[in-house]
Amino acid sequence: MQVEDWLIEDFATVDSTNNVAQAESKNFNGHRVVFSAASQTAGRGRLGRRWMSPPGNLFMSQLFYLTMPISDLVFITSLSIAETIGELTTGLNIAIKWPNDVLVDGSKISGILIETGEQGTAIVGVGINLISSPKDQDVLYPVTDLQSLGFDITRETFLQTYLKHFNHNVAERQINGFSDIRTRWLSYACRLNEVITVNLTDRQIKGIFKGIDEQGLLLLEHNGGIIKIAAGDVFFPPKG
Ligand code: BTN
Repeated sequence: MQVEDWLIEDFATVDSTNNVAQAESKNFNGHRVVFSAASQTAGRGRLGRRWMSPPGNLFMSQLFYLTMPISDLVFITSLSIAETIGELTTGLNIAIKWPNDVLVDGSKISGILIETGEQGTAIVGVGINLISSPKDQDVLYPVTDLQSLGFDITRETFLQTYLKHFNHNVAERQINGFSDIRTRWLSYACRLNEVITVNLTDRQIKGIFKGIDEQGLLLLEHNGGIIKIAAGDVFFPPKG
């Protein structure tokens, strides 16, 4: 099946669609492909975490030649997911928590795991909570799903709408560079110019979220200066 110029290969169950894409990247022939699965037995999340993958949610990995910095893809992908949810729903508060967690009404609804494959390829893994979210897990953030919010959206509809936004954003990036993507991403940015906490590997740091630079690094105002952060978990202190 072909959707928005992407070849779609859909599976009943795989360990991880990112693993399928990794294996397929060895023989990649240049035709952009999406590997999707109804469920995963070993879904992978960021920072070595696992991603619960029961039937009904969307699990997919895009495989294509990498023609831009990986950091640009992080922001293009999260922006495309936010736009997709905006197109398919009404009345929800859609935001993005740096670097790429899409939040709906304050709760995480999606995950993105971007990797490089063989032969100069990129693998963009996306999980969307369509009908369930892992409420009983030791999750770091509150989580939600579109069905609980009142929207019944099929995997096919979400994937098709997402690919349309993704293609549009990639084309815009190729023409105008990262700056327009950054501006549109910032329009969704959660707690911009407000206090946030960032957990780094060795410490926690609190400051004012001032946006992202041209590499997508988080800009944190702290002790009168700006710190640039490449990796970390962002948390929001309760508003008082
Ligand atoms: C995160 O930790 O937030 C990222 C989660 C990414 C999950 C998706 S589901 C499809 C693809 N296959 C995987 O094993 N992981 C990604």
